[in-house]
Amino acid sequence: MEASTMARAVLARVAARPSPISLTYEVTHRCNLRCRYCDRNRAMDRELTRHQMIAVLDEFLALGTRYVSLDGGEPLLHPAIHDAVQHLVGHGVKVVMNSNGIVVPRRLPTVRLLSQLKISMDGPAERHDAMRGEGAHAKAVAGVRAAQDAGVPVELTCTVGRHNHDVLDRTADLAHALGVAVIFQPVGASLFLDNTTEGEAGDGYLLDPPAARVALDRVEQLKRTIPGAVANHWSSLRHFRRFPRDTALPCAAGHIIATMDPEGVLFACDQQNRDDRRNSALRLGAREAFARLDRRGCQQCWCARIIEGNYTWGLRVDRMLAPL
Ligand SMILES: C[S@@+](CC[C@H](N)C(=O)[O-])C[C@H]1O[C@@H](n2cnc3c(N)ncnc32)[C@H](O)[C@@H]1O
Ligand code: SF4
Ligand code: SF4
Repeated sequence: MEASTMARAVLARVAARPSPISLTYEVTHRCNLRCRYCDRNRAMDRELTRHQMIAVLDEFLALGTRYVSLDGGEPLLHPAIHDAVQHLVGHGVKVVMNSNGIVVPRRLPTVRLLSQLKISMDGPAERHDAMRGEGAHAKAVAGVRAAQDAGVPVELTCTVGRHNHDVLDRTADLAHALGVAVIFQPVGASLFLDNTTEGEAGDGYLLDPPAARVALDRVEQLKRTIPGAVANHWSSLRHFRRFPRDTALPCAAGHIIATMDPEGVLFACDQQNRDDRRNSALRLGAREAFARLDRRGCQQCWCARIIEGNYTWGLRVDRMLAPL
């Protein structure tokens, strides 16, 4: 990290000088899958055009954004995704992306520009396809291989719920065989209760606390026994020990991180409820929208990479060490 970025992060934390160093941008909610736990697979009405996207991203660049995580929906389906990635990378931004992997082999010029590609993997083929649709697993694996062949660092994301909590060993073995690591995190409830797939997005797949404890303990064991297969850092695994009880952490939402949806509405983080759509970076400008964010944080932070980012930005080295 550049010294100036580090200095801004410290100022954001200790001197209450917020700065959107890290932006998650849900480029589109359009998707080529209908995963049963997901509520982000229908395009929004007024998703940003290429021109709007570049203009808003430029405003974030001017505010000092140095890291962008592209999410969706399936971000590779937006017609302007290549231009957006190229623009950001051209301005020295580190760009990573979440993808289901399906169109990766056809989007290699874009994928090559990424610092990291995170491909979702719900487990072995039969479990993955039961959640994500027939043939999705083979295409995700092909996406992993295509990105690897293109020299792009790949990590898997496994969302753990009722559908796959009993096959975590096989998921870690699969990651190991592919030569990548997998990050595990529990399924969460829907953020858009009026926009669920089959009325069950997230909620129908939540693990009850005892089953979640067993699954998350198993992830810890896998991290110790299959070197390199589990991507979770100890900060998220330690945090998961309290799942799903309210648990405070040094929340960076609205201080250092922010999330923009496909229509340009800005939220403090991607786990915030989406009902209030007034805070548009497109309409208000990125500076004003960022200034207006809700910075109260919460005690229900269960997305592994967000948790790890929070402990990192919060300089909580003590939480990053392996427990005895
Ligand atoms: C919303 S998807 C968007 C990117 C891409 N389409 C993909 O599948 O990776 C990003 C991640 O969110 C996860 N996800 C979807 N619904 C979820 C839920 N209810 N709780 C937790 N994670 C969820 C997916 O498994 C995926 O790893
Ligand atoms: S998890 Fe990803 S691939 Fe699946 S429906 Fe949601 S956005 Fe699409
Ligand atoms: S989920 Fe809660 S604690 Fe985590 S980043 Fe978002 S607001 Fe902060």
